[in-house]
Amino acid sequence: MKKFACLLAALLLATLFAACGNDDGASGAGSQPGGDTSAPASAVSGGESAQPAASDNTLVMATNAFFEPYEYYEGDDIVGIDAEVGKAIADKLGMDFSISDVDFDAIIPNVQSGKATMGMAGMTVTPDREKNVSFTRSYSTGIQVVIVPEGSDIASLDDMEGKMIGVQQGTTGDIYCSDTPENGGFGEENVTRYNKGSDAVMALLSGKVDCVVIDNEPAKAFVAANEGLKILDTAYAEEQYAICVAKDNQEMLEKIDTALGELIDDGTVQEIVDKYITAE
Ligand code: ARG
Repeated sequence: MKKFACLLAALLLATLFAACGNDDGASGAGSQPGGDTSAPASAVSGGESAQPAASDNTLVMATNAFFEPYEYYEGDDIVGIDAEVGKAIADKLGMDFSISDVDFDAIIPNVQSGKATMGMAGMTVTPDREKNVSFTRSYSTGIQVVIVPEGSDIASLDDMEGKMIGVQQGTTGDIYCSDTPENGGFGEENVTRYNKGSDAVMALLSGKVDCVVIDNEPAKAFVAANEGLKILDTAYAEEQYAICVAKDNQEMLEKIDTALGELIDDGTVQEIVDKYITAE
């Protein structure tokens, strides 16, 4: 489906404009296996049971922690690139740090309501999201890819027409795929949404969906951790990941963006990325 690719390209351009002037602090590819997809649906890093409130002293990062290598569970702890960069930002600002694991589509509402200080979740900057929250500079890039079972008859985007596509609810993969064919999507009726990316992959493994559209690094981690899956060999749109902050919290946006800029410039972000993503 060439329209899909065109739409992705258009979105890429819009995103690039939106992120114009931003640094890209990450690169590389590859992944580590072993994502724990059976972790609790909601938890807070460090084993605390109650969700801490964002305050002057505590930087609360809202995320959705089934997205290795950006955020995922290791036992009860949430680790990953976002978890570590978020902690480094809090350290720079002299704030305590805590992570709140919520559904992906609850991240922006949590940030808007002040429950979380910032949202950091391998979140793509899109013009629509920019209407609701402010974004920092970009710290990493992502690409939407398609995971299929080995031996699938889906070999290209065109082959996805009429197939059932699994996505994580509210992600850019969901937004692209569930759009109408006239707009380059595959239509709502061909998309099944899951709360977690890992649930979409489980559905693929059990044959409930024919493919999964998700970001490239988590896709690599899922494929490495589960036998019988592969990623389609087609280049798609590149997206920019950034941290979101409430529109009415300009002061915090500037603080976080400045801290992030320093961490990119002094190589800390790259060091963290290299720890989780091994170059091919
Ligand atoms: N990059 C995609 C988006 O922004 C997917 C992000 C999903 N992140 C997560 N932590 N589950 O829509």
